[in-house]
Amino acid sequence: MRYEFYNQDCVTGAREHLEDDSIDLIITDPPFAIDGDKLHKHYNRKEAFVLDGYVEIPQEEYADFSKAWITEAERVLRPGGALVIVSGYSNLLDILNALRGTSLKEFNHIIWKYNFGVSTKSKFVSSHYHILYYCKPGGDRTFNTFARFGSRERNRDNRSLLYQDLEDVWVINREYKPGEIKNKNELPSALLIKLIQYLSKPGDVVCDFFLGGFSTARIAKGLGRSAVGFEINRNSFDYHLEEMQNVVFNGLAKAIKVGRDDTPSRSGEIWDEEESDKLRSRYLQLRQSGFNKQKAINLLTDEFQRGRWSIIHKLNTLDLVVGQQGTLNISYPIENQQIRKQ
Ligand SMILES: C[S@@+](CC[C@H](N)C(=O)[O-])C[C@H]1O[C@@H](n2cnc3c(N)ncnc32)[C@H](O)[C@@H]1O
Repeated sequence: MRYEFYNQDCVTGAREHLEDDSIDLIITDPPFAIDGDKLHKHYNRKEAFVLDGYVEIPQEEYADFSKAWITEAERVLRPGGALVIVSGYSNLLDILNALRGTSLKEFNHIIWKYNFGVSTKSKFVSSHYHILYYCKPGGDRTFNTFARFGSRERNRDNRSLLYQDLEDVWVINREYKPGEIKNKNELPSALLIKLIQYLSKPGDVVCDFFLGGFSTARIAKGLGRSAVGFEINRNSFDYHLEEMQNVVFNGLAKAIKVGRDDTPSRSGEIWDEEESDKLRSRYLQLRQSGFNKQKAINLLTDEFQRGRWSIIHKLNTLDLVVGQQGTLNISYPIENQQIRKQ
């Protein structure tokens, strides 16, 4: 495995140490170019535990700065490799413009809702970040759909956990580490675990251009990936580099929940008449013996090795009128109901 960290500017560092097409996944959180002191106050109430020397970028240089490091990121990614950028709103435009000047292709613009803890009286509270997921064309993209949930795992309301996890609004709280030394603005482990699980394979090389507290590198190693990266702040670099020694390779992988591909084996196959008749009589039998629609459908997905929607659709076409949602009681917010009536 490869663990290489450099205490230098990421653009110079990438040019010196990273070959073309050599990185599978970049996850990074560049400095925001907003007043450092304000950030200090908002993010970390106990200043004594925050490492000094965080390097900010002057606002007027942000567009050029973004262009420079994103151009390097594009070069070092392997074809099919992914770039994930976490950004606030203030300088998002500069980052988007820089991305548009590359060959990288957008796959998602995720909204990360978090507990920022700043209250406002005369406007709405800012409580989200942007997570941009782009890929370099020309190779196989890694997206491990079932890395965390199987397609049949459901919550108490019978909603698909996989579907929820794949939605592009993420609610993940910041981690508070009272009494621990840290870098400013450390990303939560839960966020990094999710990104690394979906977007890379064990053994892949994960890179962070702005290591800060080395959180991306720590999680990557904990999940059995290689890690490389850059941090310009000597204080943070020295402190967290030492911490990296204590991270157990693949230690985290054993501690987290993983999913498996439980896609029904007959999913996508055409229903013939015999199977349709069998479905009809089995459904009626289950209903007569006291199963509600929801439970009956769940059971039928296993018995017929078909997806839930396929079962519901088939039952509907057999005039058993299960309804579009099976028995799910979907209640729409009032404003949606009004829109739907128009
Ligand atoms: C938002 S923080 C990254 C936080 C990190 N993701 C974490 O979870 O700890 C940005 C970091 O980039 C560093 N930095 C600023 N300019 C840099 C540059 N040109 N090259 C490398 N690191 C830089 C800052 O010192 C800061 O630690």
